[in-house]
Amino acid sequence: MSTLIVLGMQWGDEGKGKVVHYLSKQADYIVRYQGGNNAGHTLIFEDKPFVLHLIPSGILFPEKYCLIANGVVVDLESLKEEVNVLAKKKIVVKDRFFISEQAHIILPYHKIIDGILEDRSVKIGTTKKGIGPAYTDKVKRVGIRSIDYLERDVFEDLLEENLIEKAAILEGKIDISNLKKKMLEDYNEFSEFLRPFVANTSLMIEEAINGNKKILFESAQGTLLDLDFGTYPFVTSSNPIAGGVCSGAGVGPTKINSVLGVVKAYTTRVGEGPFAVELFDEVGDYLREKGGEYGATTGRPRRCGWFDSVGVRHSVRVNDIKHLILTKLDCMEDLDKIKICVAYKYKNKIYKEFPASRTIQKYAEPVYEEMPGFNGRVKDVMNFESLPINAQKYIKHLEELVGASIDLVSIGRKREEIIEINKDISWF
Ligand code: IMO
Ligand code: MG
Repeated sequence: MSTLIVLGMQWGDEGKGKVVHYLSKQADYIVRYQGGNNAGHTLIFEDKPFVLHLIPSGILFPEKYCLIANGVVVDLESLKEEVNVLAKKKIVVKDRFFISEQAHIILPYHKIIDGILEDRSVKIGTTKKGIGPAYTDKVKRVGIRSIDYLERDVFEDLLEENLIEKAAILEGKIDISNLKKKMLEDYNEFSEFLRPFVANTSLMIEEAINGNKKILFESAQGTLLDLDFGTYPFVTSSNPIAGGVCSGAGVGPTKINSVLGVVKAYTTRVGEGPFAVELFDEVGDYLREKGGEYGATTGRPRRCGWFDSVGVRHSVRVNDIKHLILTKLDCMEDLDKIKICVAYKYKNKIYKEFPASRTIQKYAEPVYEEMPGFNGRVKDVMNFESLPINAQKYIKHLEELVGASIDLVSIGRKREEIIEINKDISWF
């Protein structure tokens, strides 16, 4: 049995797409277990950047199976577009891409409601892809799963109920009867598109495990965006943490072998919410430009800051991380000095553990340690010993601060631009 979870340690955009692309060569199955097309996983394919939002990054290898498990919410319009883009690149998904019967469908009204909610009350800065409203329906027990969508009668009854239930929020914003008409008109196109993909993915995973296949679980978002352990309410509506695999893919906890955390050498966040290490100066601008820190899903400029070891240590703990891959180290190579946040300070009290209080999260000041800049090239280096000595020290210090081993370092966008510090690890 060989299963590996690859997940984000910060607020998303840690470079999970590239890491999954790197490791999926060794895997047989790649499984998404939460989130939806709010994710934007950038890979380099035939020398060009290529973004996947929903389909697991392993799809670029023709012999791999890619699954969307029950914990994911699926936008059929966006999925269809993604399948078409792949087809243009001669990547065939038929017979190797499957969607759980129990995955909930994101419907047009979820996207409309996401937009309406963003215009009032607490603005989260969501991707407006309908993620939160679709998960809300799941929890409310009024959601439409892929299996429900395939049975026209069931779908029509549920649609009717949902539109009545949602009338209060939709009225005055859109023409509800028009929306219903359009959804029924589109039904045949989308249900026929969906039908061949729908399967019992939890069972497929069990059979794969029993057959000694290698399975990689790919998270979207990151631990600090986790619904329970992130900066609530400025989070996504699912559980990217390792525990999310059990409920999100229908796999028992004793079947999970290892967890690899993906952590960026500095920090970014997109959307609203507390961000103690945020930089508003030229260093922040430098990281944004050098790191190409613009949202792969929404194009929004990402907020940039120094490495936050308080947040990452918290993520190491809730996911029981032993192994990390540090990404985008090359994007820091021109800095004269580097800061690392080692604690938060609020009202003269020092916090070493990530605080749950919204007030402390919002108003805490970062306590920094300073290190000299790398003073040398990081890119094109192929082993740890050839990195500038200050870069080596930075890596070692981050390990001490967060309490996990950095076994891989990514130094560029291309799949092969990865330094294996610990060559003895077999990921599967
Ligand atoms: P990947 O997989 C970065 C953020 C949004 C917003 C919050 C809630 O590329 O790392 P949602 O639309 O999920 O309800 O928005 O979560 N967010 C992400 N930020 N990377 C992502 O995914 C994100 N997915 C959601 O910006 O702050
Ligand atoms: Mg993203």
